[in-house]
Amino acid sequence: MNRTQLTTSADLTREEVDFFIKEAENLRTQRTKDLDGVIVASLFFEPSTRTRLSFESAVHRLGGRLITVANASSTSMKKGEALNDTIRVIEKYADILVMRHPKEGSAAEAIQHTDKPFLNGGDGANQHPTQALLDMYTIQRECGGIDGKAIGFVGDLKFGRTVHSLLYLLALYKVKKVIFISPTQLKIPNYYLDMLKEKGIEYMEDSELNKHVPEMDILYMTRIQQERFENLEEYYFLKGSYILTSDVVRMGKPTMRVMHPLPRVDEITMEVDGMDQAAYFRQSENGIYMRMALLKTLWKNYNQ
Ligand code: NCD
Repeated sequence: MNRTQLTTSADLTREEVDFFIKEAENLRTQRTKDLDGVIVASLFFEPSTRTRLSFESAVHRLGGRLITVANASSTSMKKGEALNDTIRVIEKYADILVMRHPKEGSAAEAIQHTDKPFLNGGDGANQHPTQALLDMYTIQRECGGIDGKAIGFVGDLKFGRTVHSLLYLLALYKVKKVIFISPTQLKIPNYYLDMLKEKGIEYMEDSELNKHVPEMDILYMTRIQQERFENLEEYYFLKGSYILTSDVVRMGKPTMRVMHPLPRVDEITMEVDGMDQAAYFRQSENGIYMRMALLKTLWKNYNQ
């Protein structure tokens, strides 16, 4: 594998996904200094807690150094600077770039202006490939494998970029079924359904959750993405569409795992947190090891 940039999970291969999962597992227990003296620019032009801090923690654990934008309004973007110019300048200040940006397609645009290792930390409602990889790592750890599993996605499937990214990776495996549960206004874009169809993966759509829980191996809950709504009244109407309680979790198999990219607003009640099925805090920890694996590998490939 000679990858040095990651903007979408659409171009990852199964070999790469398996490699990154293995590498993340190795890095869980090893402290290597693969980024000794390397400067990573952590550019977050849109709010983030986990993605930014787990990337930054990963850089520290690998012995690297950081320069950070944690707030778009503190940069020249606020003065009207184009993304192209920002990237051209920052790629001279740093050895690796990690970027989150509110605009769909911004990651693809950014790599037009740099050959340095680049990782997309989320571009609008489009893609979030490092989350997809840490989600695959979590499924592997929690369920002992990905082939043969039934996965239910619940909530905002229209704007949820983590769902969009994860679907490309699931399609590389022999998953049993994908179940999409959402209000009709927030359905998964047809584009992703066509992609599953093409890969021969069975799927179904519904707006009701409870009756599908018993067949799920993974219940992947998402937040209604308030910031993507043009009309806030619609958001308030749809908010609270699905609230996962311990009673609903108990309708599922004891081995079912509940995942959520976090942050949670109100879609999983706190009483679920103590159940074995609740995997979301373990999932967010897995993000550190997966991001270490990505940083280490892309940097190594760049220097070969
Ligand atoms: C997600 C994101 O930013 O897309 N969060 C994350 O990266 N862990 C999901 C969300 O914001 O709902």
